Amino acid sequence: MHRLCAIPGDGIGREVVPAALDVLKKLLPNVKVEEAEAGWECFERHGEAVPESTLARMRDCGAGLFGAVSSPSGKVPGYRSAILTLRQALDLHVSLRPVRSWPVTSPKAGIDLMILRENSEGLYSGREHWEAEGVAVAERVISKAACQRLAQRTAEVAKARQARRITLVHKANILPLTCGLFRDTCRDLLMGEGWGDVLDERLVDVAALQLVERPEAFDLIVTTNLFGDILSDLACHWSGGLGMAPSLNWGDGIALAEPVHGSAPDIVGSGRANPLAAILSVALLLRYHWREETLATRLEAAVQRYLETTGHLDFGVDTTRTITQGVIDAL
Ligand code: NAI
Ligand code: MG
Repeated sequence: MHRLCAIPGDGIGREVVPAALDVLKKLLPNVKVEEAEAGWECFERHGEAVPESTLARMRDCGAGLFGAVSSPSGKVPGYRSAILTLRQALDLHVSLRPVRSWPVTSPKAGIDLMILRENSEGLYSGREHWEAEGVAVAERVISKAACQRLAQRTAEVAKARQARRITLVHKANILPLTCGLFRDTCRDLLMGEGWGDVLDERLVDVAALQLVERPEAFDLIVTTNLFGDILSDLACHWSGGLGMAPSLNWGDGIALAEPVHGSAPDIVGSGRANPLAAILSVALLLRYHWREETLATRLEAAVQRYLETTGHLDFGVDTTRTITQGVIDAL
């Protein structure tokens, strides 16, 4: 039986997670859903953004769906972003972020790429301190072990989708130690796995330009934590923006699906939140973690069919409900 830990979080997380669960229950009627808390309001209530009980429930279920959380933009003593805590505490070491063209929402056809982002270290290692008055320092941690795990996952995903190109994105000309270690480790492993023919590399700034100029030229993009965060928001423009951007935080035997967007305080409560990013995140969980390829494909095909038949997305008061029902009807 499939068990799922649902962590709605804050803001529209509480609107899109129930929507995605409705779709999942239609696909997998026997799924057992267990809810858990995390986020800013949880911090205000309990003094912790991710209580131990949430981590325990996630470990127990082995699979989760996370909505979004709000974070203050300045430092609040004792508070750390809930999603970063979940990724690190549960060792969800890779983030998969697919970007593809959809009917209606995409500004351009023919795009089908995926960003594999290292999810546990890099500039998000949490090592930030004051070095002197007026001088703040963040440490960018890159380890060979994390690069190897990322490259190993890349080889798996490349095999599953018969990748035509794998692009390592870095900035080794300026950061020869950290980015050099990333590039060389990934390159060695992927060459060893037989992917040498389709392997290439780009400096991150050039990659950003090319993602705007010719996104259809990319297939798999493999990169470090911060670069992957930025490039995946940029690239999701081609799917139709944040409302169409799914992701999967993927560890060993444990995974947490997560729409890329945040808590969207500007639209919370209006009914206008697009649930497709959360719904498509569930498809990633089905495909890569639960190994339910048929169900994942069926779900994505339903989204495709729904968009084709509707012919438009009207962001009015009933958006979340209408889209959710439309996908369920198309299943
Ligand atoms: P955001 O992703 O919440 O919103 C950016 C813009 O996109 C807003 O105009 C919003 O209305 C729109 N948008 C986002 N998701 C949408 C959806 N599903 N349907 C329709 N429109 C959607 O990012 P923002 O505004 O920078 O941050 C708001 C809060 O979210 C902050 O507290 C931030 O820290 C947090 N955040 C949390 C993330 C997470 O939980 N993984 C990721 C990004 C931000
Ligand atoms: Mg982001």
